[in-house]
Amino acid sequence: MSGPKTFNGWVCEGKGESLEWKEMPLRAEDDYSVDMDVTHCGICGSDVHTLESNWGPANYPCVVGHEIAGVATRVGKKVTNVKVGDRIGVGAQSGSCHECDPCKSGWENLCKGTTRTGTYNSFWPNGDKSFGGYADRWRGDSRFVFKIPDNMTNEIACTFFCAGVTSYGPLKRHNVNKDSVVGIMGIGGLGHYGILWAKAMGAHVIALSHNDKKKEVAKELGADAYVSTSSEEDLKSIKGKLTHILCTGASDDFAWKTFIPLFKPNGTFINVSLPSWNFPEVPPMMLSLSQVNICGSAIGSPAEIEDMLKFAAEHNVLPWIQKYPMKEAPKALEDFNKNLPRFRFVLEN
Ligand SMILES: NC(=O)c1ccc[n+]([C@@H]2O[C@H](COP(=O)([O-])OP(=O)(O)OC[C@H]3O[C@@H](n4cnc5c(N)ncnc54)[C@H](OP(=O)(O)O)[C@@H]3O)[C@@H](O)[C@H]2O)c1
Ligand SMILES: [Zn+2]
Ligand SMILES: [Zn+2]
Repeated sequence: MSGPKTFNGWVCEGKGESLEWKEMPLRAEDDYSVDMDVTHCGICGSDVHTLESNWGPANYPCVVGHEIAGVATRVGKKVTNVKVGDRIGVGAQSGSCHECDPCKSGWENLCKGTTRTGTYNSFWPNGDKSFGGYADRWRGDSRFVFKIPDNMTNEIACTFFCAGVTSYGPLKRHNVNKDSVVGIMGIGGLGHYGILWAKAMGAHVIALSHNDKKKEVAKELGADAYVSTSSEEDLKSIKGKLTHILCTGASDDFAWKTFIPLFKPNGTFINVSLPSWNFPEVPPMMLSLSQVNICGSAIGSPAEIEDMLKFAAEHNVLPWIQKYPMKEAPKALEDFNKNLPRFRFVLEN
């Protein structure tokens, strides 16, 4: 196999260090590999957590970015789902063991094998490092690559592969429908999708934001109501009213006693946020007497990604994006960290 050996990307050499555009090694090709010229890559909160080693020391040098869209330029001989010239995308997961119980039951996103590969800051089964999409080129495994629907542009499509599915998967799995009253907590990249999905599923949607700055924009996104979680009065107005909360971001003073009373009986609190700190202990009495279900969700399975793309087309769900040239990735990250995006920043080559 004689494809390219390197790519150029925004490299972080260590915690707190600025990104530098550099040449890096591409992983080795194999029968399942796909090469992509990257056209777009979304910026996810997880990129920042990784660059800053918020979840423990990252495996530097890192090239982050796991909402990647582009055009296929080479495919291995066992690749059946992609051909050269196709517009394709990949999300936060790039490989799984295909053998463990979760993989065999269609939950590859929960793979317990040692060969589960994250799109960046991880290793391929052959030991090569995985690098993400703040780059000009990407090589990965076709089994986690998706064809972008004809009626969807790459700049829109890339954001579906992490923010889109991470918010769609759990809302669908927990049966959000026209009888649901859904609180979307944290109106950022994932949260704005949360509002769009929950509305498209027919729910009454309440934006739960940590202050009152996003009131207007939450309404524009389609939220039926807005609650600032720092206002006692606002919180009181929705006591006992919610069937679901999708938590995409919480302040570090998060308290269960603030949120559990917001539910109707048997409500569901779904966490997808991944802060560097832990949630506090759950008061057992409050948990029992509310019958609230507390659960989490991790990106989405390949089947959920396909299902999401279909749902998005049927219901015309389109994310809001703001583009930055790839060469301005450091500036885009700086603005991301100021909580400025409305709502997904997308880097463009
Ligand atoms: N589980 C998974 O598989 C998965 C997948 C992707 C991402 N994630 C995680 O999900 C989280 C959100 O990612 P994202 O890309 O949506 O990030 P984001 O765009 O930065 O959104 C996070 C939101 O958190 C809210 N927030 C609450 N308290 C805050 C505070 N004190 N300061 C700043 N913001 C605060 C903000 O919304 P308001 O201003 O409205 O409060 C902010 O917009 C990250 O932790 C990321 O790592 C998890
Ligand atoms: Zn992500
Ligand atoms: Zn597995």
